[in-house]
Amino acid sequence: MGIISIHQAIDLLKKGEPVALPTETVYGLAAPINNLDAIRKVFEIKKRPLNDPLIVHVSDLDMAKDLVANLNEDFKLLAKNFWPGPLTLITKKNLLKVDHLITSNGQTVALRVPKSKLFLEAIKSVGPLAAPSANLFKQVSPSKASHVVDSLPGVAVVDGGDCDVGIESTILSVDDLTVLRPGMISMSELSKTLNKTITHQLSKNVPGSEEDHYQPITKVIVFKSDDKLNNFLKERSHSPLLLQKDESLVARNLYSDLRKLDQSADFITIKWSKDFENEKWMGIKNRLEKASSYWMD
Ligand code: TXA
Ligand code: MG
Repeated sequence: MGIISIHQAIDLLKKGEPVALPTETVYGLAAPINNLDAIRKVFEIKKRPLNDPLIVHVSDLDMAKDLVANLNEDFKLLAKNFWPGPLTLITKKNLLKVDHLITSNGQTVALRVPKSKLFLEAIKSVGPLAAPSANLFKQVSPSKASHVVDSLPGVAVVDGGDCDVGIESTILSVDDLTVLRPGMISMSELSKTLNKTITHQLSKNVPGSEEDHYQPITKVIVFKSDDKLNNFLKERSHSPLLLQKDESLVARNLYSDLRKLDQSADFITIKWSKDFENEKWMGIKNRLEKASSYWMD
């Protein structure tokens, strides 16, 4: 289908055709929440199981308010501080407004206001849009329009350039203040805003948190020690992926780098450093742990 304009995208959405739209994190495969045929197509296109719920994208806190059972003070404060931006907030849903197909029969809904003007324009014309990352289930998310064309050739995409953040949003369950998926908004930023403790729960029971998510086809090996990496490389003509010191840059380029290496190398090696063992790198570490087959000490 290739690249289309935002006006064409809005027309397609109104007709119930999912389209890929840019956000600041990764490209999303969007469909209106009030068109369940379109939502069903999203699951089908991605080959995603129906028990893995979708994030609903809204234009502002007012639109979010309509979709939840109750907006508590923590929710409001976080939304005021971090929206639009790469933070997804989960709370009890308004049962009348959000279908069980979107929330996989659960009682909660995940909400976020994306930064992309194009995405916001689509929401303003069509209403709230459910949008998972625009890739096949369990594969690497797209941070450029061309990634979507490669991963989902049948899907029309609006090109908003390269995603600025580069990895998916931080997901926080507001009712128990636990992070379900780390991202570039850190736990201490959330905790400072609320002046409350935030915990981290990486339960395997949370859909989408399976160990083998975000995987390139090529085997990824992460090395913690220089010696082991050098030893591994000795008899191979192969360049490891070197991570820069600036975590924002690393996140921005991560999925492009993995996709490029996936096509060009027999395996992907990455050098991890002790300098990255801090909160700012938690989202990147989480994605690498999932992408990699081995994490060598
Ligand atoms: O940055 C992002 O969040 C991107 C862009 C497009 O907004 N979206 C994204 O969606 O990463 P997706 O579907 O690829 O990942 C969303 C994750 C899934 O693991 C899903 O299980 C979880 O959010 N999720 C959605 N609703 C949930 C809910 N009510 N309770 C628990 N987890 C939920
Ligand atoms: Mg995804």
